[in-house]
Amino acid sequence: MPFSNRKILLGVTGGIAVYKALELTRLLKKQGADVRVVMTKSATAFVQPLSFQALSGHSVHFELLDTEAENAMGHIELARWADVFVMAPATANTLAKIAHGLADDLVSTLYLAATCPIYVAPAMNHAMWKHPATQANLKILQTHGVNLIAPESGEQACGEIGVGRMAEPETICRGVLQTPAHEDDFGYTGRCNLPLQKSGVCKTPLRIIITAGATREPLDPVRYLTNRSSGKMGYALAVAAQKSGANVTLISGVTHTAPPLNCHFIQVETAEQMHTAVFENLENCDIFIGAAAVADYRPIVCGDEKIKKNAEQITLTLQKNPDILANVAALDSPPFTVGFAAETHELERYAREKLTRKKLNMIAANWVGRDEGGFERDENALEVFWRDGQQSLAMTEKSELARQLITLISERYYAKN
Ligand code: C5P
Repeated sequence: MPFSNRKILLGVTGGIAVYKALELTRLLKKQGADVRVVMTKSATAFVQPLSFQALSGHSVHFELLDTEAENAMGHIELARWADVFVMAPATANTLAKIAHGLADDLVSTLYLAATCPIYVAPAMNHAMWKHPATQANLKILQTHGVNLIAPESGEQACGEIGVGRMAEPETICRGVLQTPAHEDDFGYTGRCNLPLQKSGVCKTPLRIIITAGATREPLDPVRYLTNRSSGKMGYALAVAAQKSGANVTLISGVTHTAPPLNCHFIQVETAEQMHTAVFENLENCDIFIGAAAVADYRPIVCGDEKIKKNAEQITLTLQKNPDILANVAALDSPPFTVGFAAETHELERYAREKLTRKKLNMIAANWVGRDEGGFERDENALEVFWRDGQQSLAMTEKSELARQLITLISERYYAKN
């Protein structure tokens, strides 16, 4: 199970959206998470605690001053137990209480006691959502590092139309499970803002497109030209970007690596297909990372029939492929664009030349054709260049290298924006 034993504390407060929290519990359990539910008194008026108990497999906590419950697992213990605390639905009242440090029930007390990443999925009438008091409370919560899963717009239970409907359980489940299991998994504390989310009350994730893997350029129905890229670096970048809070689209050539969960994954084969997929998905893209080893040339003709081995020599005529990275960077308002350069010699000179010629914001260069690192390996080292700076990332596992590169990209992205 992908998220086995991820400990999720679900705080359910009193609104009609409580019924959706049942579905959220089911979805989290389906992903392998261990879910414990805490309810406010008014939440229990909408749905019986027994329903949450049946779905979560644990008795539900709702009393702050209950000796029996405190003996079983006290509120401090519950707060310590959780990897993530999500309040869904979070009412205007609970948001106001936690913003101001009130702790008069179990949910709001747990908010103060928990040190793990915290999410709120508000649900309320659209006028209550828009009220300056609610918006001010959300701003305060943002300064506490709380992650907002923004409510959606649409018809509300009260019959009116507007923003305030709780996000769908699938959206909340996805958001919550993208949090690293432990603070030190990703090097920053859960309450801090994730680096790849736009600041503001509604912390929307940055949209990142990553290309990965090798393209295949068909010669005939059974043969193709390709290269030695495994796709491991691009996939590791996708995971690292997701853990940093980004919304990731991974556009990949054929690889032997399973795509990360919860990212928008598009499989392609040729450079032209990759080019089309990138341009079809570019809308609202904040950062583009071209980690794919795109074939520079493709056979000019690809027949329907297998090429026969009659002639002693044959000649292949190749046509240059579109340069996806350069075309993205050449847009009128391009995303923050990061390229890769694999070089056998004069690494800095060639990498900097590419940075300028392709009008990139950043380029990550690595040596190839040497003993360690590079294609098909689990480790690599990078020299990263931008117009007025550079940084070396030492040889390490690609997952760790990806984490370091994503951190550097987010720093440069915010320095530019
Ligand atoms: O020019 P060169 O191929 O060495 O540049 C490498 C960088 O350009 C990589 O980031 C690669 O993903 C990207 N690229 C591309 N489309 C191509 C060729 C390379 O996006 N046709």
